[in-house]
Parts: sequence; structure tokens; C-alpha cells
Amino acid sequence: MEMYNNEKLVIDWDDDDKNYNINGYEKWVSPSNLAIIKYWGKEGNQIPKNPSISMTLSEANTTTTMEWYYRVPDEETVTFFYNEKENKAFADRIVKFLGKVEHMFPFIDDLQFVIHSKNSFPHGAGIASSASGLSAIALCLCKIEQYFFDTLESDEDFYRKASYASRLGSGSACRSVYGGWVEWGKSDVREDFSDLYGTPVSEIHPTFRDMKDTILIASNKEKSVSSTAGHKLMENNDYAEIRYQQAKNRLPELMKALQDGDWATFGKIAENEALTLHALMMSSEDSYILMEPASLQMIELIRQYRKETGHHVYFSLDAGPNIHMLYPADIDTEVRKFVNSKLKKLCQGGKFIYDHVGYGPEYYPNED
Ligand code: PMV
Repeated sequence: MEMYNNEKLVIDWDDDDKNYNINGYEKWVSPSNLAIIKYWGKEGNQIPKNPSISMTLSEANTTTTMEWYYRVPDEETVTFFYNEKENKAFADRIVKFLGKVEHMFPFIDDLQFVIHSKNSFPHGAGIASSASGLSAIALCLCKIEQYFFDTLESDEDFYRKASYASRLGSGSACRSVYGGWVEWGKSDVREDFSDLYGTPVSEIHPTFRDMKDTILIASNKEKSVSSTAGHKLMENNDYAEIRYQQAKNRLPELMKALQDGDWATFGKIAENEALTLHALMMSSEDSYILMEPASLQMIELIRQYRKETGHHVYFSLDAGPNIHMLYPADIDTEVRKFVNSKLKKLCQGGKFIYDHVGYGPEYYPNED
């Protein structure tokens, strides 16, 4: 199944390099994404049990600078600074991730890294920080490969490899390397859809190309059960098989709605997918609930607002308590009034993020 085994990508150091004065850095800002058809359940080496499709966000992102140095024996291979503070738990996570992608980037073995990372949103609150964080690291690794070997000839090669590597860190991260709408997981709908990497979907009606997503922070406390544990619980969930089939069936239906600009069908699927995800958590052997009372109040208000105004305003949730309010860009001014008058007071610390479908990761070339 593996696509990359680049044994040749080994750095041929000369003696001067080994004086440890060789170094460089790569910098990316990579966005989070929100799945409308959710990936929940996996097998083997990060292979999803069902296809998923997401919108790439814009304002919810991670900025990562990955400095690399010639590796000095006995020194830490990864030093990680999160919001300028050293974070050993994150460093350990990255060391593990690098182990998983070493076969794709064998030069990792020769380098050590100092990583500076910051999120534009609270960590661990169910905005996919692993998607933005790990895709940013994978993109940096691809740039380092380019720097040393110039092997990723086309943009297609570059982003596909970045997506593939991101997937090995966190499944949903593989969708974050592209802008717009991105599918991940093999499906009868299109032959090029793969379990191994994300595929951008370009047949999207203009109304969904600049869709708004206002993220209402119902709580910013760390979630009690990680996504890794959540995926695992699907193995014994009585509803698992029927759920995987449901997602497979929904993919063509959602893709058609996205293509046709059909908000009603889109909204119905988006809300049902979000509630199904949380229902799966609640119905797992070790049941758990990630929604907060404020999440339910927000859902209620959104549905009421929709009924009263007739506006296409829908909600989704990720694996956390926060509400993603989805609506067309042309009613933004009106919806902002609704946010300020009704929803803001339910947000923890009055916090929310006005986000929208984004263009994908942004590279910041070296300044020197
Ligand atoms: O990528 P992971 O392992 O963190 O899983 C995240 C899954 C959801 O965010 C809940 C859904 C999805 O498809 O992004």
C-alpha cells in the first residue's frame, strides 16, 4: 500500500557541513479544516473507514517555523516551542510523527529540529489543531526535501506528498494541504479519490466557494477524550458498519449539493453528520459527551433563527463543543448582528472566530 519509500533521499554531507554550521528553516501557515462528511473510525496505518469531505478554513490556522540543523549526537532531535514556550509533550508527538514518515524522508535521520508553532485559536478545543499543526510540519518537510534534493517536480507531487505525510500524523490533516473543498478516502464516486491522501474537489458552486463559518467557542477547555481514543472506540461500536455505509452513500449526495449550490440539502447533511458524530461518541462502549450546555443552546438558537428568517444558516461540530455556523457570504452582515445580539453571550469569554472557506496553506520563503 505504501507509495513512498525514498531510500535515495540521504544527505551527502561534506566535512565542512559537519562542523554543525549548516542550518536553515522553512515557514508555513497552514489552516485547519471542517469536515462536513466526517471521518470517524480508521484501520491499519491511518486508513479511514469511510470517505470524508471538508472545507479548508482560513482564519483558524497554525504558523510553524521549522529550523533544521545537522544532527548532533546526544542532543534532542526535536525542540518544540508552542506560543514561544517550550513544550516537551508536543516535541514527543513530533518525534513520533517523524518516526512514522522517516521512510518518506530518510534525511530526517541526519537532522535535528527546533520548531516554533502558534495557533490562531485555542488548542485542544475541537478546532482541528492537529490538522493545521501536522500539515504545517509535513509541508516544511517537503520544502526541506526540495532544498536538498529538488525531487518534488510539480506542485501536484509536492502537495500530494505533503498530504500523504500529514495523514500519517493525523488523518484529517491530509485535507488541510489544499484550499477549498477536499475529499479523502476511496469511493465509487471518483476513481482518483484515495485512502492515502486528500484530493481537491473543484466542481463547487460559487455560493460554497466563499461559504462563511463562524466558529462559536462554547468552551476552550481541553477535550476529555482524544480523537485517537474516539476512533478506537468505533471498533466496538454497534452502529459502526451502518455509519460507514451512511457516509459512503452521502458523499455523492453532498458533492451534488456542493456543485448545484443546493443549500437545503447541504444543511441537512451537515447538521446530521455533526450530530451523528456526537451520537457515535455517546453510544460507544465507554460513552462520552463533548458537547457543553452552551453548544445545545447555540444549536437551538441557530435553528430558531433559520425558521424565523428563512436564511440558510446551519451548524456543524467537530470533535469538541464548539459550534461552526455555516451560511452564504451574502447574508454575512445580517448574521453578524445575530451573533452579536444572541450568540456572543453564550461563547466562553465572548469568543468566536469569523472564518470562511480558505485558499490553503501559505508558504513564507526564507528572508535571507
Ligand atoms: O484527524 P483526527 O484523527 O484528529 O480525526 C478527526 C476527525 C474529525 O475531526 C472529528 C472529523 C474529520 O473528518 O475531520
